[in-house]
Amino acid sequence: MRRYHVTTFGCQMNAHDSERIKGMLEELGLGEATTQDEADVLVFNTCTIREKPDQKFAAHLAQAAAVKRRDPDKVIAVGGCYAEAQRERLFDLYPYVDVAFGPGSIPHLGEWLGAGGLGIARGQFGLQDRTFAGELPMHRERRFQAWVQISMGCNSKCAYCIVPAVRGREVSRRPGDVVAEVTRLAGDGVRELTLLGQNVNSWGRDLAPEIHTDFGELLRACDLVDGIERIRFTSPHPKDFRRPVIEAMAECDAVCEHAHLPLQSGSSRILKAMRRTYNRERYLRLVGELREAIPDLALTTDLIVGFPGETEDDFLETISTVEEVGFDSAFTFVYSPRAGTEAAAMAEQIPEEVKRDRIERLVEVVQRVAAVRNAERVGRVEQVLVESPSRTDPNLLRGRTRRNTTVNFSGAAAAGDLVDVRIEVATSTTLRGVQAVPVAA
Ligand code: SAH
Ligand code: SF4
Ligand code: F3S
Repeated sequence: MRRYHVTTFGCQMNAHDSERIKGMLEELGLGEATTQDEADVLVFNTCTIREKPDQKFAAHLAQAAAVKRRDPDKVIAVGGCYAEAQRERLFDLYPYVDVAFGPGSIPHLGEWLGAGGLGIARGQFGLQDRTFAGELPMHRERRFQAWVQISMGCNSKCAYCIVPAVRGREVSRRPGDVVAEVTRLAGDGVRELTLLGQNVNSWGRDLAPEIHTDFGELLRACDLVDGIERIRFTSPHPKDFRRPVIEAMAECDAVCEHAHLPLQSGSSRILKAMRRTYNRERYLRLVGELREAIPDLALTTDLIVGFPGETEDDFLETISTVEEVGFDSAFTFVYSPRAGTEAAAMAEQIPEEVKRDRIERLVEVVQRVAAVRNAERVGRVEQVLVESPSRTDPNLLRGRTRRNTTVNFSGAAAAGDLVDVRIEVATSTTLRGVQAVPVAA
C-alpha cells in the first residue's frame, strides 16, 4: 500500500483542513505513514500569516526535496495559504513540487493525485477554485473533540492580514449542513465542538434572505444536539459581536464560558490604521457586556506589536488595555509585513529592535496578568474534559476546563471523561489539581 504524510502549519482551520486532506488521501487508497521518510506522497499544508511560518515551511520542503532526489517517485504536494499566496511562482521557486492546491480546492485533490496518489497531474495548479470541504471524508485526529467549519474566507480588510487574499470572500455553510455534521459527530462520541470561521460572528449574513439566521441561532441549534457537552468557537471579530450571540452564550448550557476576542492593539489610533473598525472604548464596552451576561467568563486575545506608525504611547495603550481587561491568556505577535497587504506598503515601518523590545515587555505583562487570573482558580472545583496523560508527568492526567485552561491532575479517568478537579496550584499558563471524588448519594 502506498503511504502519505501530511505536515501542517498554521491555525486550527488548517489543522482541520488537514483532516479533510487525510480523509481524501485515504479514499484514494493510501495509508498514513508515521514519518516523512516512509511516505510516498508528501503533503505540506502551509500557512503564510507571518514570515516565520513561510521560513519553517521552506526548511521542511528543502528536506523533502533531498528525499525526492534520492527517490524521484515520491510525490510532493503543497497546499494551504502559502501555496495560494505564491500561486504565480510556486513551481518556479520549487520545481520539484508536483501538485499545488489552495485552501479552497482540497475537494479536487483526488483528481490531481489520482488513484494511489501517483501525482497524475504534475505541475497542475488547483488554486483559487473554492468549494466547501465540509462534506468530504475526514480523518479525525481526536476522538472526543472535533472542529466544525462554519464558513470559509473573510470579508474584513484588516490592513496587516493576508487571509482575505488567500482564503477569498466569506461564504457561510448552510445551517442544516452544520447541524447535520454536528449530529453525526455526536453519534461518533464527540463531546466538545469548536466551530471554526475567520469571523464566526458574521456567519449567516451571505445566506439567502429567507434563511434569516445569525451565529446566535447556530449556537442554539448546536446546543440542542444530544451528546454535545461543550461548544467553543473561534474567532469572533469584536466588531460583529452582537447581543443575540451574547444571549445565546449565556443561555446555552453547552457553550463554554470562554471568548477568544482578538484585540490586536489597545490604541484607537492604531486600531483605525489597522481597519479593525472598533476602538479601545468599544472593545472595553463589549468586554463589560460579556462579563455581565456570562459570569466567570475567560477572555483570551491576539495582540500585535510594531504595526507601522506605532509609537511608544500607542504601545503603552496596548499594555494598559491588557491590564484593564485582565486577559486569561494572549497570543502575542510581532508585526510581519505581508506582500500585497495595505500595511506592508505603509511608511513608518517599525525597526526590528523596537519590535523586539516591545514584544518582550508585552509578554511579561501578559504573563503577569494571566498568572493573577489563574491564581483566582485555586481552591475551586472545575469541570475538566480529560484529553491524555500529562506531557510532563505520566502519572498525571491532562485536560481542559470549560474556560479552556490546561489542567494537570492526579486521578483515575479515561480520555473523553468529564470529571471534577479541585485546583491546587496555578502558573501563568496551566493549573494543577486533584480529581474530586464524588460523594456517594
Ligand atoms: N481571523 C482571525 C485570526 C486570523 S490570524 C481573527 O480575525 O481573529 C490570527 C492572528 O494572527 C491575528 O488575530 C493577528 O493577531 C495575527 N496576525 C495576522 N496577520 C499578522 C501579521 N501580518 N503580522 C503579525 N501578526 C499577524
Ligand atoms: Fe485577517 Fe482581519 Fe479577516 Fe481576521 S478578520 S482573518 S485578522 S482580515
Ligand atoms: Fe490560518 Fe495561516 Fe492560513 S493562520 S488561515 S493557515 S495564513
